[in-house]
Amino acid sequence: MDMTPPTINTGADGGSDVGIVELNASPVTPKRAGTKRTATKARTSKRTKPATARPPATASATRGPGLHRLVARSELGRTGVVSVETPVGRLAVGISNGRPFAVSDTCRHLFASLGEGRVLRDGCLQCPWHRSRYDVTTGRMVRGPQGLLFLSVREIVRAYTNLLFPLKTYPVVDRGGVLHLDTGS
Ligand code: FES
Repeated sequence: MDMTPPTINTGADGGSDVGIVELNASPVTPKRAGTKRTATKARTSKRTKPATARPPATASATRGPGLHRLVARSELGRTGVVSVETPVGRLAVGISNGRPFAVSDTCRHLFASLGEGRVLRDGCLQCPWHRSRYDVTTGRMVRGPQGLLFLSVREIVRAYTNLLFPLKTYPVVDRGGVLHLDTGS
């Protein structure tokens, strides 16, 4: 039995086969050749630039540039509207006729929070105090304040609101059931 220790074949270029063990008395066999191929493959994979891992999907990834999270549809409750603090101020945010909306939160009559009102079946947003109603697509008051106290000024309030201070409307997008303000930046 040949007890000569194995030698390292460094190859003709002095380094291309580093790591391949060759037994002195053994003929070249397909198995050895296979070993060489394996080593070559390993070197190749070492040179290959590792694939860049994709970042995991996160909540921020679903927002996207220019989107500010407002509220999830499931958080709206039975009134269909809530008040939300945003970079552009406090807004009344909700769903009207199946579509998301965001408008100024302050009623033009006596400044109630419209986010504490409700969305009616016809899609109008109703103020919680004196039940003025607004079209959330235009911001216009479609009905003035109710009650005997305001009977004489009802139409005046509606007229000056629509002329001078209609609610501001803001673009809203729905991302997977979560409403976002589209800030456009
Ligand atoms: S405060 Fe809204 S209708 Fe009076």
